[in-house]
This record gives sequence, structure tokens and C-alpha cells, in this order.
Amino acid sequence: MSLPVNPLAESLSFNPLPVGHTPFSDRGKPTILMCPPTYFTVAYAINPWMQEAPPCDEVLAKRQWDALYQAITEKAGAHVELLTPEPGVPDLVFTANAAFVHNQTAVIAHYKHPERRPEEPICAQWFEQKGFKVVQMPDHIFFEGAGDALIWQDRVFAGYKTRTDIASHSLLTAATDLPVLSMELINDRYYHIDVCLCPLQDGHLIYSPDAFDEYGRAVIEANVPASKLIPVSPEEAARFACNAVNIGDTVIFNQGSSRLTDDLKARGFQVLSVDLSEFLKAGGSSKCLTLRIG
Ligand code: ARG
Repeated sequence: MSLPVNPLAESLSFNPLPVGHTPFSDRGKPTILMCPPTYFTVAYAINPWMQEAPPCDEVLAKRQWDALYQAITEKAGAHVELLTPEPGVPDLVFTANAAFVHNQTAVIAHYKHPERRPEEPICAQWFEQKGFKVVQMPDHIFFEGAGDALIWQDRVFAGYKTRTDIASHSLLTAATDLPVLSMELINDRYYHIDVCLCPLQDGHLIYSPDAFDEYGRAVIEANVPASKLIPVSPEEAARFACNAVNIGDTVIFNQGSSRLTDDLKARGFQVLSVDLSEFLKAGGSSKCLTLRIG
């Protein structure tokens, strides 16, 4: 039996899949998109971390980003593609938000805050040039890319309300064929799902119970076996322990979560911590600075 075509797909706009490109997923190494922090700073405040931030040390931020880049390429063995930094869009470094990427399709972010909207065409153009099918949300529906949509096994945990609209979730399914579990984010500090939940290899899932209501926690528990669930404390969550990059059996996150580090090591992961203090001032950490594209 073939499924009926999803009528929602008609409200999405997309370019046809270009031919002649080898997908990153066929190039032998995991591929991550990053953007050098040339113009990174905290220039406006669109989340509580930015509202409270002391001045950002941009020189230190560059050193911290380099350390993350090195951990990803040299220690975890991934290939990194670079987005060209541009002045006036300091949050472009947070490539996790650029798009949700699955099977050569990139569903481009449409930001709630006007401050980040100039990033949208920059990212759409990059994905188009690299041979992805580029999908764009309708103008009235906000969606903040892989910051708010994370693949776990065969499904997507997707956050809504603070930034992303729940209406984008069925469009995400229309664009990718992936089932989406919609999770309300109830805590302003954890305004994207990737700062409070992190799928890892082999079905593990790190999450911060406080970022979800009882109903959301029940959804997590109904989907992920208890033996694979890794809850973190509020202190660890505040150090962005859930904002981890997982490549193979390597997990990379901000420093300061030794209990979680031990737990992950006991589960067979190699754990690397990198000091990302300057990016925390903007409300992001290691995972936000990366996007898996192949
Ligand atoms: N300052 C950025 C914002 O508020 C930080 C984005 C962090 N990215 C993420 N994937 N959580 O939008």
C-alpha cells in the first residue's frame, strides 16, 4: 500500500535536488559543518544567557573554537566543512541552527528573532551550492534547524514554543519522511532542544529533566529504554552538558561535568572536554557550534 502524499508538503518551497554531487555521507568520514568565529561576539540579547552575559572575550573565543575544531578533526576523526563567516551575523557560528539535515535534504531555519534572519539566505545558498535539496518553511512558521530537531534512532525529538513553532513539525515530516515527537520546552534557559537533550550512538540519550514538563518526560521515557537514559543534574545542564557533539564513540562537551564524564566512560564512550566559556555567554556550546551533514 502506498501512503497518500502529505498535503502539507505543498506549503514548503524547495529547489530540485541538483545532480552531479557526491553526498558527504558517501565520502567515508562523518562530515560536520562549522563556521569560524571571525565576527562572533554577544551583540544583542535573545536568550537569558545573553541577557546576563559579561563582556565576551573574542580572542579567547577564537582559541576555544580552534580547540573544538581540533578535537573534532584530529581526535574524533571527522571531516569539517566551513561556512564563510560574515560581519553582522555573530550567531552564524552556531551552525546547528542553520538547517535540519537528513538524506541530502536541508530544511533551512526560519528564525523567530529578526536578529538571526539574515543568516537564512547565507545558509540556504551554501546548502544549494553543495548539492542538497533545500527546503524552506513558509514565512509564518518558525523553525530553528537542528537546534530544535534531533534524530534519535529512526525518529526525531523536536522542541517547540520558545523558538520553533509546533506547526513546523509536520512540515519536517513532510520534507524528510521522519516521524517527529514534539516536545514543549518549558524553561527559557533551555530555549532549544539541543541544550537540554542529546541523542548518542547506540540509542543513549542525555537529557535534563527540568527542561520538560511531566508530559514531555513521559514521552522520553516511553521511547528510550531506561538503561539508555542519562539524566543530568541542573548544575550539569547549566554547564551545557546536554550540548554534546557525538562522533562515533567520542563525546565532546564543555568542561565541568565530571560525574557525567565517568558515566559516559562506563558506557564505553571516550569523553573530551573543551572550555567554551565565551560561547556559553551567547547561550551555546559544542553541539551548537556544529552541524552533522553527512
Ligand atoms: N545566541 C544564539 C541564539 O540565541 C545561540 C544559539 C545556540 N544554538 C543552538 N543550537 N542551541 O539563537
